[in-house]
Amino acid sequence: MQAKNERIGEEYTTLSSDGRVPFYRFGPGPFGLPGTGTRTVVPEQGSSEPCGNGLCDICRAQGCRERQKIEAQSDGSPCFKVSGMRRIGGRVRVHGAKNSVLPILAACVLCDSPVHLKRVPRLSDTGVSLRILDSLGCTSAFSGSEALVDASGFCETRIPDRLVREMRSSVIFLGSVAARAGEASLCLPGGCELGARPVDLHLMGLRALGMNIRERGEKLYATHEGLHGAEITLPFPSVGATENILLAAVCADGKTVLRGAAREPEIVDLCLFLRKCGARIVGEGSPTIYIEGVSRLHGTEYTIMPDRIEAATLLGCAAVTGGKLELEDCAPESIGSFLSIMRRMGCELEIYRSSVKMQLSGRLTGAGIVETAPFPGFPTDAQPVLTVMGCAAGGETRVREKIFESRFKHLPDLVRMGADIDVCGSEAVIHGGRPLMGGTLYARDLRGGAALVTAALAANGESRIYGLSHIDRGYERLEKTLSSLGADIARIR
Ligand code: UD1
Repeated sequence: MQAKNERIGEEYTTLSSDGRVPFYRFGPGPFGLPGTGTRTVVPEQGSSEPCGNGLCDICRAQGCRERQKIEAQSDGSPCFKVSGMRRIGGRVRVHGAKNSVLPILAACVLCDSPVHLKRVPRLSDTGVSLRILDSLGCTSAFSGSEALVDASGFCETRIPDRLVREMRSSVIFLGSVAARAGEASLCLPGGCELGARPVDLHLMGLRALGMNIRERGEKLYATHEGLHGAEITLPFPSVGATENILLAAVCADGKTVLRGAAREPEIVDLCLFLRKCGARIVGEGSPTIYIEGVSRLHGTEYTIMPDRIEAATLLGCAAVTGGKLELEDCAPESIGSFLSIMRRMGCELEIYRSSVKMQLSGRLTGAGIVETAPFPGFPTDAQPVLTVMGCAAGGETRVREKIFESRFKHLPDLVRMGADIDVCGSEAVIHGGRPLMGGTLYARDLRGGAALVTAALAANGESRIYGLSHIDRGYERLEKTLSSLGADIARIR
């Protein structure tokens, strides 16, 4: 292994097409990965701010330290050992959706009788949500893929800091806990691996419903004397804010009209669940949701929708390895934009009401320009796996990340594997077709981690992927699913 903290790029004086952005050329890769001669770019000329993606000069200086830290922390920790170049194919049923089960678990706080959930994915984030429920006095049981939550013993309104820090999306408990108890407090997890992730829209919506929210340092304290319906317009269709507002509005006094709401399938799933519990909601899946408050919600039995991002990840794995895959019970309409990009890249798809068959004869072709966007646009969560598909494709793929500012953290690892990628601010230009070589890789966020696994499956040789705690947040035993589809992957220490 080469010396740590060495300088990994030398300035490359050519300017980008707009003449503003200096390029950097990677020298031999650090951390035991091959150097590639690929260019990367700093986002803003003269900026003193790091780009946050580990790609600019400042980030690389800090990123090296961060990487050393990650490497040190990873020492002795479990990793995936992957031998690449095996076709991923066969038939598989995806698990329940992480982004659906989390708000639904938060919604259980509002129910005065037990909730029985099916198709619950066994994820570390699910575990954190259940521990939050336990800490609030609710009881829960989890067996196989079913969970039972009984909120009749609910007695605590402070959400423990350590649990909030384990799962940044725990802010969705704010709406339900405060709505049920008249008060709630939790700490703000602060900036995270994807960027700043402010909660101003959550707070704006909750305040409009009558919540009094004080921000003290890193803490949020919410109280109210009774919530009332309101007309709320979100300037951006935030998924989390839409969920928080829904959870607070379902038992508020009167009618709420939420305009500019997120339209994600997980919002629809949450509304279907709430309706089964007695809530009065219409319009979910459209930009305007109407809610008429009811006095109470009761428990129900509910099956969580399939995870569309797991579906996209598995399709991506099959595509980069030239496999033939059938996804059963996967809600194809929830991944329409991903499927249309797959078609554009040359994948042959048969799309049925609840399943998808995919195969690739020949080679993937570059996707051209793809921008992430709120649903029904291309999902930001599927962007990292798309970048790997772009690496495997002949031709160019331009990925514009429009939702989160720091979602390219997996790219330096792809570059070290041999990929040819230029990054300029929120755009990654992938010059596909260069062979990827296996190496030691570090997941720094959930979807980026899954992208590294995808790349390792397509790479020549063996890879070790550390940072499994990120991947385990959102994929139930990914190695087991992939092994069942022909991958040579194992979790080792
Ligand atoms: C959810 C998903 C996440 C997905 C994202 C976008 C869960 C648990 N997570 O995250 O996997 O990538 O939707 O589809 O469901 N924003 C603000 N102010 C706010 C709230 C959001 O500026 O109050 C910004 C965010 O910084 C981000 C953008 O809006 O740039 C989208 O965020 P949002 O839709 O809220 O995503 P999450 O709910 O955090």
